[in-house]
Amino acid sequence: MKRVLITGANRGLGLQFTRGYLERGDQVFAGCRRPETARQLQELQAAHSTSLTIVGMDVGNIESIRKSHAAVRSHVDGLELLINNAGIYSVHGSEEPIARLGELDFEDALRVLQVNAVGPLIVAQQYLDLLRAGNRAKIVSIESLNRTSRTEARSSPEWGSRWPGRDSRSSPSRPSSTWRSSLQGSGRFATSPAPSNRAAG
Ligand SMILES: NC(=O)c1ccc[n+]([C@@H]2O[C@H](COP(=O)([O-])OP(=O)(O)OC[C@H]3O[C@@H](n4cnc5c(N)ncnc54)[C@H](OP(=O)(O)O)[C@@H]3O)[C@@H](O)[C@H]2O)c1
Repeated sequence: MKRVLITGANRGLGLQFTRGYLERGDQVFAGCRRPETARQLQELQAAHSTSLTIVGMDVGNIESIRKSHAAVRSHVDGLELLINNAGIYSVHGSEEPIARLGELDFEDALRVLQVNAVGPLIVAQQYLDLLRAGNRAKIVSIESLNRTSRTEARSSPEWGSRWPGRDSRSSPSRPSSTWRSSLQGSGRFATSPAPSNRAAG
């Protein structure tokens, strides 16, 4: 049985990951910004009351990350897997890529970087003690398609000309060798280059 923390678990891929790990019999901590309105997670919790814990966590807010860590730590003394899944395409919502070059707003662009690129690093840092205490822990960060999306951009010039969240999901959150060594040889970092509904192993 793995002890798994998933960020952005209330919908989309994060919710699918949560379902997948629960079905495998793992213990899941489902991070989300607003537990009180996370209806699908609440339904899952009713069916998996001993193996699912919903944890409030905004990955763009250090206080919220710290509080979530204290909550998880009150349940377990280690984690085997952190899935950095939470992300935004734009501050205007999932359907609205942030802006064309020339329309970029500094504050909005920084917010996207904060959530998509810096957030995963701060979450990993905060949970390092539990991951080090886990059995061969892994940190998986869901990347975007930017390095494989040239064909997509050519076939969809409108989408390709924008600066969406996808660019912000790449290099800054890509773990360095220093970060790998932070798990002290007992675990590893991984990135998922493209989203998948398949749960990470
Ligand atoms: N699906 C794809 O085709 C695709 C393609 C490229 C990359 N990705 C990456 O895969 C990940 C999941 O994608 P998705 O399609 O499932 O996205 P989604 O449906 O838009 O869901 C995003 C999740 O992240 C959460 N989130 C956003 N900002 C957050 C914050 N500050 N703190 C905590 N949680 C936050 C959202 O919570 P709220 O409900 O509170 O907003 C939601 O649970 C993202 O990182 C995305 O960049 C997905």
